[in-house]
Amino acid sequence: MTAQFPVVRPRRLRRTPALRRMVAETRLHPSDLVLPLFVKEGITEPQPIASMPGVVQHTRDSLRKAAHDAVEAGVGGLILFGIPAVKDGRGSGADDPAGIVQKGLRDLSAELGDSTVLIADLCLDEYTDHGHCGILTPSGEVDNDATLERYASIAVAQAAAGVDVVAPSGMMDGQVAAIRTALDQAGYGNVAIMAYAVKYASAFYGPFRDAAECAPQFGDRSAYQQDPANAEESIREALLDLDEGADFVMVKPALTYLDIVRRVRDTVHVPVAAYQVSGEYAMVEAAAAQGWIDRDRIIMETLTSVRRAGADIVLTYWATEVARSLRA
Ligand code: PBG
Repeated sequence: MTAQFPVVRPRRLRRTPALRRMVAETRLHPSDLVLPLFVKEGITEPQPIASMPGVVQHTRDSLRKAAHDAVEAGVGGLILFGIPAVKDGRGSGADDPAGIVQKGLRDLSAELGDSTVLIADLCLDEYTDHGHCGILTPSGEVDNDATLERYASIAVAQAAAGVDVVAPSGMMDGQVAAIRTALDQAGYGNVAIMAYAVKYASAFYGPFRDAAECAPQFGDRSAYQQDPANAEESIREALLDLDEGADFVMVKPALTYLDIVRRVRDTVHVPVAAYQVSGEYAMVEAAAAQGWIDRDRIIMETLTSVRRAGADIVLTYWATEVARSLRA
């Protein structure tokens, strides 16, 4: 009896790098990537972040240089986070025209003009002494509607400083509508909103809280960020933000929520972003530093997976490095 050999052989298309390249269903391009940047008030040298090796809190000067390098590498956009020297209960630094994030935005907008997309995280946690994303009631709960007024004011301050896109990340109900209205009334109808529509209460933000010095001083963010157990709720959040006027929706974190990225991508008709957060970065860097994983391959595999799941845009701390390697 003659042996039965398979007639259908998927391996034919995997034989050479050129064949694999031709049939690749997902491609990474530098312009899909957004680089998060931290700028801190009152420092004269960039400060390393222990839990995010390779990432720093920038001075205004080093911020300009890092932004320039990213844009030169072809990165699609930058998202800026400010760390004020002084924090208070209402997060006054967030909408102060002379606050650090506004200064950083003015610097970058002067330096880069329309050659990149300038995004600003819009939240209060980096600016409040208690570390929560909003204004607190006397009993210590986050007051949704009082917080919306603060967000509206921050949006206008960021717009005045030259931002292209504001990215509200506080998960308050109605935040996109409040910000859209405020921007339009102040004459900033062209400023777009990238809503952190789907944001889970995640332990993967741990290293970011070192970077932005914003760990909550009591409690956690579970009363406003989403429960990792829920998926339907994400669709509801994304659709609400679209109704309120969001121009993009974001899912965050990325790697542990690829199912959500796919469902959101299949549901909405605006660009979908996913944020590869600080803990995702730290896990890879830590294992790579031990020599336990192949760092470069893991970075490309994670980013490709996030794109394959349906994200059009990926926020990643590796943006400049990856953009350079894609162009090499
Ligand atoms: C809130 C904000 C956070 C991150 C982005 N925007 C922190 C939080 O919600 O606790 C996390 C980003 C990261 O972990 O890389 N302003």
